[in-house]
Amino acid sequence: MAHEQLGLSNDELLSTTRAVRKRLDFEREVPMSVIKECMELAVQAPTGSNAQGWQFMFVTDPEKRAKIGAFYQRAFSIYRDMPVAIHKLHADSGDSDLTASQARSASSADFLADHMGEVPVLMIPCIAGRTDNEAGMNIISQTGTLGSIIPAAWNFMLAARARGLGTAWTTLHLMFEKEVAEILEIPFEDVMQIALIPIAYTKGTSFKPAYRPPVETVMHVDRW
Ligand SMILES: Cc1cc2nc3c(=O)[nH]c(=O)nc-3n(C[C@H](O)[C@H](O)[C@H](O)COP(=O)(O)O)c2cc1C
Repeated sequence: MAHEQLGLSNDELLSTTRAVRKRLDFEREVPMSVIKECMELAVQAPTGSNAQGWQFMFVTDPEKRAKIGAFYQRAFSIYRDMPVAIHKLHADSGDSDLTASQARSASSADFLADHMGEVPVLMIPCIAGRTDNEAGMNIISQTGTLGSIIPAAWNFMLAARARGLGTAWTTLHLMFEKEVAEILEIPFEDVMQIALIPIAYTKGTSFKPAYRPPVETVMHVDRW
C-alpha cells in the first residue's frame, strides 16, 4: 500500500522542500518501503543519452552510519575554517534578511555535523564515471555526468518531502570519498559519489519558503 502523503500543492512542495537538519526525527523508523516509493519517482528523472548510469546507496547499518558521520564531521570542521564557509559568506552583506538567513543555515549546518551518524537513513547518489581525474573530460562530459544524477536525487527529495520526510543536500563528506567508498564497497574508480543526504521523518510537517533575494537580481532576458 502506498504511504500517506501530506497533500501539499505542487507550488507548496517546490517552495518548502528545505534543507532539514534540526527537525530530523532520529528516533522514528523510516521503512524501506517508503524509500522505494521515492526511488520510483527518482528514476523518472532525465539522464544524458538516457544512459541511466545512476546508483543509489542507502545506509541504515548503525555502525556504518556512525563511521560515515565521523568522516562528515571531520570534513565539516575543515570547511568551517575556509573563507567560503557559510559562517562567513554574506556575514555582512548589507542585506539583513540574507545575513539572518545565512546565520540560521550556519547554526543548522553545525547541528547536522554533530549528528549525521544518528540519522536513520543516509542516501549517497552515485553516477558511473568520474569527473575529477579523467583525461579529456570537457564541459559537456562534466555537466552530462553530474546532470545525470542530480535531477534524480532532487526528485527523490521532493517525493520524500511529499511523504513527511526531511532531507538536506550535503557534499562535504566527499573530502573523504575514498574512505566512505571503502566502508560501503563502492567501486571508487568507476563510480562517483555525488552527495550525502540524511533522510528522516520531520518533527512537524510545516515548513516555510526560504528567504531569497528578489529573482530580478539573478534573471537575464536576451542579454547578460
Ligand atoms: C551542491 C551543494 C552542496 C551542499 N553541501 C552542504 C554540506 O555539505 N553541508 C550542509 O550542511 N549543507 C550543504 N548544502 C546547503 C544546504 O543543502 C541548503 O541548500 C542550504 O543550507 C540552504 O537551505 P535551504 O535550501 O533550506 O534554504 C549544500 C547545498 C548544495 C546545493
